[in-house]
Amino acid sequence: LENGVARTPPMGWNSWNTFGCNINETLIRQMTDAIVSSGMRDAGYQYVVVDDCWMNPNRDSAGNLQGDPGRFPSGMKALGDYIHARGLKFGIYQAPLDRTCAQYFNSYPGRTGAQGHEAQDARQFAAWGVDYLKYDWCSPTGSIDDQVRTFAIMRDALRATGRPIVYSINSNSIHDKTGPRRNWGDVSNMWRTTEDITNAWNTGQTNGYPMGIQNIVNVTVPLAAYARPGSFNDMDMMEVGRGGMTDTEMRSHFALWAIMASPLIAGNDLRNMNAATQTILKNANLIAISQDPLALQATQVSFDGTRRVLAKRLSNGDVAVALFNQGTATTTVSTTASAIGLTGGSYTLRDAWTNTMTTSSGTISASVPGHGTVVYRVSGMLNPTTPVTSPPPSSPPPST
Ligand code: DGJ
Repeated sequence: LENGVARTPPMGWNSWNTFGCNINETLIRQMTDAIVSSGMRDAGYQYVVVDDCWMNPNRDSAGNLQGDPGRFPSGMKALGDYIHARGLKFGIYQAPLDRTCAQYFNSYPGRTGAQGHEAQDARQFAAWGVDYLKYDWCSPTGSIDDQVRTFAIMRDALRATGRPIVYSINSNSIHDKTGPRRNWGDVSNMWRTTEDITNAWNTGQTNGYPMGIQNIVNVTVPLAAYARPGSFNDMDMMEVGRGGMTDTEMRSHFALWAIMASPLIAGNDLRNMNAATQTILKNANLIAISQDPLALQATQVSFDGTRRVLAKRLSNGDVAVALFNQGTATTTVSTTASAIGLTGGSYTLRDAWTNTMTTSSGTISASVPGHGTVVYRVSGMLNPTTPVTSPPPSSPPPST
């Protein structure tokens, strides 16, 4: 979406994966402080996103949304001010129909969805200083056309406020019904590609609830052509640091989200991260690959059912390559400089995890443990015939 924001994949933190509905202003402030003290802000994380369950179950007499008075007694504007004062940006959650997901599925009280209040809610968010809206479809019914029309109403309402606001959508509950996937770049800055992520490597799901890391990669690899500045495939909030995976798997998770240009929204408790989690989330080589200004998603170079090679063109002419082993046993994963669009006789490979440099005359290869991903930043001579961007197939403009 061309609205001036999300020129590279948004980075931040979201409350849902760890806290669900158990949120309050003290917790969000503590997490804001932890983004700063852990060095994550300086590594690039910006958005503090308050997910579902922040609302008072009733709108006020003028129809305005309000924070839950028990858990957000200072109000949402004050929370936004707290976040902004620490150099960060404020994200909030709403749903397009009559109920949020927690109101629909988790018996959170009220029916405070935006339906019929879209312009009013957008103005309210802008007045609170909101910089990012997560807009979460919460009904098991509805067609893709309903969704396009409905998501476009809030897109236009946000634009009308004049405030730059990242627009993050989730066509939740309908992923498995949409068949060929739509390019949502005309509607939003980022759109979820799958059902909800869970704290596990592989749940065996194709696109049903809940999705493991490898399952989300499988669904999202074919959507690479949709990614561009302002528009990203959202592989969901990360499960790094949540304890459900080995360190090798967590490193793969982060590396794949980075090279696939997914938003990097942490979902762990930032107040008590161990060293491994911090090293993963703050890896500067991978963040540079994620945040490269070309904003391309890695495309698939090869996949034999176990060994998957992905490559992402970078703005300085380098190419980032992921050697991903989806199997359980250590194996050698290989590609070549020419297969990733480079030409010439000599290449340097910087390993994103070890930061070591090697040279190669063309083979790009590593021994990769099961579920592991080795990422190299490869410098060579760019093949002049390799296109800089792959134009995405266009979707018809939505009718509002
Ligand atoms: C479904 C979404 O996929 C989750 O990320 C979260 O926002 C919940 N809804 C909140 O109810």
